[in-house]
Amino acid sequence: MNSATAPIMTKDSPGIAVNHESTLHFLRKIISNPLQTIPPEAFHEPLVYSDIGGKPRIYLSDPAIIQDVFINKADFIVKGTMVQRILGPALGNGLLTTDEGSNWRRQRQSIGPEFQHARLLDFQAEMIKAAERTRDRWSALGSQAQIDLRHEMMLTTFDVIGETMLSGRQEMDVFAIEQDIATYLKAAGWLMALEIMHAPAWTPFPGRRRSMAAARSMRQAVVAMVARRRKENSRRDDLVSRLLATQDLESGKSMSDEEITDNLLTFIAAGHETTAQGLSWTFYLLSQHPEIETKVIKEIENVTKGQALRPDHIAQLVYTRQVFSEAIRLYPPVPLFTRKVVKNFTLGDFTIPADAILITPIFAVHRHTSLWDQPDQFIPERFDPEQVKARHRFSFLPFGAGPRTCIGNAFAMMEAVAILAVLLPVFHLVYRSRQAPVPTLQVTLQPKHKLYIQVHGR
Ligand code: HEM
Repeated sequence: MNSATAPIMTKDSPGIAVNHESTLHFLRKIISNPLQTIPPEAFHEPLVYSDIGGKPRIYLSDPAIIQDVFINKADFIVKGTMVQRILGPALGNGLLTTDEGSNWRRQRQSIGPEFQHARLLDFQAEMIKAAERTRDRWSALGSQAQIDLRHEMMLTTFDVIGETMLSGRQEMDVFAIEQDIATYLKAAGWLMALEIMHAPAWTPFPGRRRSMAAARSMRQAVVAMVARRRKENSRRDDLVSRLLATQDLESGKSMSDEEITDNLLTFIAAGHETTAQGLSWTFYLLSQHPEIETKVIKEIENVTKGQALRPDHIAQLVYTRQVFSEAIRLYPPVPLFTRKVVKNFTLGDFTIPADAILITPIFAVHRHTSLWDQPDQFIPERFDPEQVKARHRFSFLPFGAGPRTCIGNAFAMMEAVAILAVLLPVFHLVYRSRQAPVPTLQVTLQPKHKLYIQVHGR
């Protein structure tokens, strides 16, 4: 059917699952834990329609529908104002937050080479070194020390970003940045709720002043670094130099300091927080599954022959990679992403109207009852190549879908494997609490409370 004849999708459309939650309930959940706004139907239906704040919100859980929308209908959707509202005050208009169009394309083209395979291979040595610094820090703590796992993983992945993208982590005060990001993200639920209510940007809410001060503090630190690097006028081999040298293909104009700042902040934030969350969940899951932990360590020992991890080992650690994939299936660091429809388009038997909001609830797709056997169980063997081939490729989409898919996908996978392979043979991590960590969404998926873990030397 084409859009001229297909009826507009509404809550009365035949064969469509509808979630009847009221706008008030929805807003309450979005402020306390936006993960709970994913309707329960999204875990077993292909598509769920809901009506919040007078606008259709359509949840896409079926991989074939996701593929159709993000690949074939990509021209009908944009990121929309939600991401700008949540992240704009901190990240400005960088690659992650800018709307589709020439500005995004130019940024993606200039930054792309930094993520090409050959370049990533160069980064592996720094990833290993960062993991080794964490290993040495933990070793110095003595046996059975308790660590805040998420904080430790943030330090490690920040270290990687600092060394690979900024030519040295000493360029920034990692503790201050981590604190600023955490403070800023506390406002995310409120910012989402206000966007849904179309409230103006200045609308007050609890914690607003603190959160905006954190965004300013982060930006000032990066502005100062960009100014230092412009003055220094030496070409180092890193993202800062690449951005300083970028010129628009058509106009020949270079990037302004503001654009460079936006992108550096984007890579600092998007490039370390997500991987750190994924690693924290991985270590937690391994602490609950000793048989899987033993299997990973065996693989690492077989590949490294008991020697220090080398860059060329990383690609050989196939099971370790499967373990990380399975952890981010259960706990995807980005558990949902949204798009705004800009022009009517046909999806199956219906027309999706302009202005509708499309949500891809990665968290629900990854636990969908018709896609996964025992969806809530931790089974890394699901990522055996044969099993992967048998599934629709959009059944597993931790890095998103379509043109705006994560630019750091391969980087994150290499980094995660390197960090696991350095730390796991040396430490056994023990989670003592009787309560399983509760996942909560603050832009990324994180445990509601700090994840305290005991580190035992092997
Ligand atoms: C496990 C780790 C990671 C996960 C799960 C993840 C997830 C995602 C997802 C789902 C998106 C798409 C969002 C959307 O379509 O609205 C995205 C975009 C992005 N990610 Fe990642 N990411 C990870 C690591 C990284 C790393 C390491 C970097 C950089 C070093 C990075 C940089 C970005 C950027 C710049 C974008 C925006 C791309 C664009 O719009 O063109 N991410 N990420």
